[in-house]
Amino acid sequence: MARGEIVLGALAPHPPHLVYAENPPQNEPRAECGWEELRWGYERLRRNLAKKDYDVLIVHSPHWRTHVGHHFLGVPHFESLSVDPIFPNLFRFHYTLDVDVGLAEAIHDEAKAAGLVTKMMRNPNFRVDYGTIISCHLTNPAWDKPIVGISSNGAFFYYSDEVGQAEMIALGQATRRAVERSGKRAVLLASNSLSHRHFTEEPEVPEDMTHEHVYHHGQYLWDMRVLDLMRNGKTRQLVDELPDFIEQAVSEAKAGCLTWLLSALDYPEYPAEVHAYGSVIGTGNAIVEWDPASAGVAGGRA
Ligand SMILES: [Fe+2]
Repeated sequence: MARGEIVLGALAPHPPHLVYAENPPQNEPRAECGWEELRWGYERLRRNLAKKDYDVLIVHSPHWRTHVGHHFLGVPHFESLSVDPIFPNLFRFHYTLDVDVGLAEAIHDEAKAAGLVTKMMRNPNFRVDYGTIISCHLTNPAWDKPIVGISSNGAFFYYSDEVGQAEMIALGQATRRAVERSGKRAVLLASNSLSHRHFTEEPEVPEDMTHEHVYHHGQYLWDMRVLDLMRNGKTRQLVDELPDFIEQAVSEAKAGCLTWLLSALDYPEYPAEVHAYGSVIGTGNAIVEWDPASAGVAGGRA
């Protein structure tokens, strides 16, 4: 069996507003427009992804918070209605998705062997979180690939950012090892936003873009610093600085998704491609791609 590889990694944030503005048939609310820069960024990511041969999307989502250990979707098929708890007026999405349970179990086993607390989620009635659904939908709206869903363990919240970082680095390494041994070609998605201080009131028309803007200059400066490190291949420095970013910009990177992704990609030193940056209710969101092949780096290793 050929060695598997990570063929692409992406920061793929999950504001429900982006799905709302796209008007896919699965979502009940209808929009006129909105957040075009970010949606066109996702289009550019999809165009690049269409040139890739891949088997599975592996997504790490902030909104499947698990208090004890790292959990993995472990049922072959899920379908239900996903309603955003904050924005039920924007996101009532009828999802149907397939899971690559074999690969999920392989990552679970690698993570467990590395000393992490792990669990396979076997409840067939489990409602998949909206962070997983939105990142996967915006990356692959055809839903024609199975996914592996990984929970966000709360070590950052219950212990410290440093403990959380160590957990996510180990989880990323385990993910990479499992993909390589599986023989599969995987796309990895980190579902978090960047800066995450947001508005407390919604405009009457949610897609009225006269209300949308960066919340705070300090938050914006932090987002630009993070994107600059990505664009210059300084991902080890970025991981080192993430605890400060998390604290000072209230970043959703506190969910660990970005650290997991950069660890799984083995800390790329080639430039990331930033497809878009924009605000959603004031939070900073970027769609960023790491393509090991375009950098001439098979599987991300120099
Ligand atoms: Fe979120």
